[in-house]
Amino acid sequence: MKFLSQLKPNQLRNKICLLRVDLNIQNADLYGLARGFIRVPLKITAILPTIKFLTGNEAKVVILSHRGRPQKTKNLKLKTGNYSLKPFAKIFSQLLKKPVRFIDFGISQKLKSEIENSPVGSVFLLENLRFFAEEEKNDKRFAEKLASLGDIYVNDAFAVSHRENASVSAITEFLPSYVGLVLEKEVENLNSATAKFKKPLIVILGGAKVSDKVGLIDNFSKKADYFLIGGAMANTFFASQGLPVGDSLYEKEVDLAGMASRLGRKIVLPRDTVIYRKQILDIGPETIKEYQKFIKNAGTIVWNGPMGLIENERFAKGTKEIAAAILKNKNAETVIGGGETIASLNLKAINYKLKANVFISTGGGAMLEYLAGKKLPGLEALNNLKINE
Ligand code: 3PG
Repeated sequence: MKFLSQLKPNQLRNKICLLRVDLNIQNADLYGLARGFIRVPLKITAILPTIKFLTGNEAKVVILSHRGRPQKTKNLKLKTGNYSLKPFAKIFSQLLKKPVRFIDFGISQKLKSEIENSPVGSVFLLENLRFFAEEEKNDKRFAEKLASLGDIYVNDAFAVSHRENASVSAITEFLPSYVGLVLEKEVENLNSATAKFKKPLIVILGGAKVSDKVGLIDNFSKKADYFLIGGAMANTFFASQGLPVGDSLYEKEVDLAGMASRLGRKIVLPRDTVIYRKQILDIGPETIKEYQKFIKNAGTIVWNGPMGLIENERFAKGTKEIAAAILKNKNAETVIGGGETIASLNLKAINYKLKANVFISTGGGAMLEYLAGKKLPGLEALNNLKINE
């Protein structure tokens, strides 16, 4: 792997850098941001140093990203309306204090010349790459066309590195390619929390889906001391054990009885819950107290997924209390992932200050796959570089 952080100014000066980032941020968050309800999302703040590093070294930056899954929407107007990257040009321009040129048309000679002729330090943002079906097919010709716009490629999109997409994987075959500053930190932090971890290692899992967390539980089954379970995931455990869950959300097709008996006391399920209209929507006060004790004594913490329905303030208490307890533990090496969890930390009631021992990953699914021990196509591509320069 080659790292952007190790490039010298003369290796960047006047170079056009295609910078793959992850701007997969929902419209509701953009709406909240525009009205000052929420902080600038982590996916945006995290990549600002990379853009500044590049422009500061007199490179030109072409930001590449996807947003949502627009190929599933047939209506063109809806597609552009819901998934365009246009709003980000204004956001970046305000944060970087310089114009950011949004490109909403395809890759052409005209665009190439425009980028080439722009002054050093210029920043461009290309429209959502998933508007092209070739992106998700990891199409080589599409990757080559994209690559023709730049001189070097940087992957700073850990959050999408588990997808074999053209701008994440195939593109590395056509340009000298580097690990970006965010990606470098992600891998470093996830490795240090999971390979050089201090005991006890506590894994806290919540959120709606269990199926995407089973791999992580398997991979951590020996290393972890306890798995504290919350959210709808706990309901799936309850249902698998034949316990009544009323109308609560759970995954019917997933049977966790085997896993629960194999891991025995390592799996800690809520001892009380908050129920509303026959649905379990949060962990209860006794569970909060019990989980806080585990968290207080932890040497390493890995957290992914909220403990309840955080979108509703009435059911956000469990997640907030868990977040506060995690941030109070000044010693544990901590990695937090998952967009929803990050959103929960954004709740006004938590007046938090992040300490050096806490790392918030920009990855949701990517973090889960990495921690499950899977090989991520984006990282594999950077590991097996075909172009050496
Ligand atoms: C994410 O937000 O997790 C990434 O951007 C990946 O998005 P995807 O699941 O649509 O590929």
